Amino acid sequence: SSSSDEKDLVIIGGGVAGYVAAIKAGQEGLKVTCIEKRGALGGTCLNVGCIPSKSLLNNSHMYHQILHDTKNRGIEVGDVKLNLANLMKAKDASVAGLTKGVEFLLKKNGAEYIKGTGSFVNENEVKVALNDGGETTVKGKNFLIATGSEATPFPGLEIDEKRVITSNGAIALEKVPESMLVIGGGIIGLEMASVWSRLGAKVTVVEFLGQIGGPGMDTEIAKAAQKTLKKQGIEFKLNTKVVSGDTSGEKIKLDVDATKGGKSETSSQLEAETVLVAIGRRPYTAGLGLENIGLDVDERGRVIIDSEYRTKIPHIRCVGDATFGPMLAHKAEEEAVAAVEYIKKGHGHVNYGCIPSVMYTYPEVAWVGQSEQDLKNQKIPYRVGTFPFSANSRAKTNLDTEGYVKMLADPETDRLLGVHIIGPNAGEMIAEGTLALEYGASTEDIARTCHAHPTLSEAFKEAAMATYSKAIHF
Ligand code: FAD
Ligand code: NAI
Repeated sequence: SSSSDEKDLVIIGGGVAGYVAAIKAGQEGLKVTCIEKRGALGGTCLNVGCIPSKSLLNNSHMYHQILHDTKNRGIEVGDVKLNLANLMKAKDASVAGLTKGVEFLLKKNGAEYIKGTGSFVNENEVKVALNDGGETTVKGKNFLIATGSEATPFPGLEIDEKRVITSNGAIALEKVPESMLVIGGGIIGLEMASVWSRLGAKVTVVEFLGQIGGPGMDTEIAKAAQKTLKKQGIEFKLNTKVVSGDTSGEKIKLDVDATKGGKSETSSQLEAETVLVAIGRRPYTAGLGLENIGLDVDERGRVIIDSEYRTKIPHIRCVGDATFGPMLAHKAEEEAVAAVEYIKKGHGHVNYGCIPSVMYTYPEVAWVGQSEQDLKNQKIPYRVGTFPFSANSRAKTNLDTEGYVKMLADPETDRLLGVHIIGPNAGEMIAEGTLALEYGASTEDIARTCHAHPTLSEAFKEAAMATYSKAIHF
């Protein structure tokens, strides 16, 4: 069949970028269709990313805490057992609830949802191979590519999602492996290392660089994070490059080179039952038919766009993981709204200097704005203020005092340049830093804002005090 009515906007991909654009377009009164091949909306984030990983992180933390951190709180527990199948069921239930919720929101806002794989026929038509069989064609005035990303494979190590896994396998293992090697100490590596280490696996993280955390994490905070993760039982091999792997034996073997300044020094071998490949993600545009419309991707596979998300064919735009910028769900969401606003009103806005990052380990690590090494590299002068959670009354009463808040500010104007937190609830607390940065606050503005007592957020206020003057409690 072929629907002859032309849509105002046709979206390919129903991930965070695509489904948010569909809802926004519906709200703006545009005739909109969203094409998604997965069989469920929400993309990587809802189905195999943010949401399932946070379910596993939360519940594995609870399990770990019950095992190791109850006695000094006056709680005595009996036999504690892990039921991995039920832990996975709880995760699946969260995912199912949320994806259904998104489907309802599309309906509520009058956005059409087609289950199938979209591919450009020409600049004005997308052909959809329907999941249920058959084909349809959708015509549009505007198009939005929101096809997201996939795990970057490691050359020579075939992914079977059982022994050699990406995050897709790591959120769905059927038993706790005795040992796990993680290639890449970025956010995925560390979150999944945390989950499986808490559940009983012996985990070693192999990281090419001299610091963990992936791009953007403040070096000092990354060191603190590594220290606490090591205390929890995770082993680290930094400045170590995985060169090749061998899956033929009972255990998987990895050849690694210790590097110094990028140069290989010594070689050795590591082995484990399971290997997690977490060396980054790459844009996914396979089967999209970009070649049929002459659209280019860059050397890293990203769809090339201008500042209004337009490809060189101006009515075809791209947002989210498939194009430039950090691969984060909230970044994709901001861009989706802005792209629809460009289409409808001619203007939209995303502040790329003000996108928070959160690593949901324990404790959490969160940051926004520039890191200390960013500022140093650019020779931008700065002032630092810190405040430890060990001096915060709420953290003390919670027996949860690891970590600190670090602020960076302009020494002349006191304008906030960056906030870096490692500590309990850092992921929630960073919202305050993001708001302050977005509004161009000074650290004195933050310090003179009343914060409720006793809360962890007082550590945030006192870090601001320490930046422009002095903290009271430290
Ligand atoms: P995606 O979510 O990848 O969605 C793209 C969708 O397009 C997919 O569903 C795909 O099936 C569909 N598609 C592709 N091609 C076609 C086609 N031709 N036709 C029809 N449909 C198509 N980010 C955070 O901010 N916070 C987190 O805590 C976080 N945790 C993560 C944990 C893991 C394990 C992973 C892997 C990622 C995590 N991320 C997190 C990143 C986040 O998932 C992505 O940034 C986000 O999903 C990007 O959204 P998107 O819509 O651009 O792409
Ligand atoms: P990443 O880019 O964060 O980290 C990959 C790490 O692997 C880097 O530190 C890199 O130096 C290392 N590496 C690369 N090749 C290597 C080799 N041969 N040997 C050893 N180490 C090697 O990528 P990651 O962790 O895979 O995550 C992908 C994306 O997903 C990120 O952009 C991230 O933002 C997003 N994500 C976000 C989450 C969050 O916001 N909480 C959670 C999970 C993913």
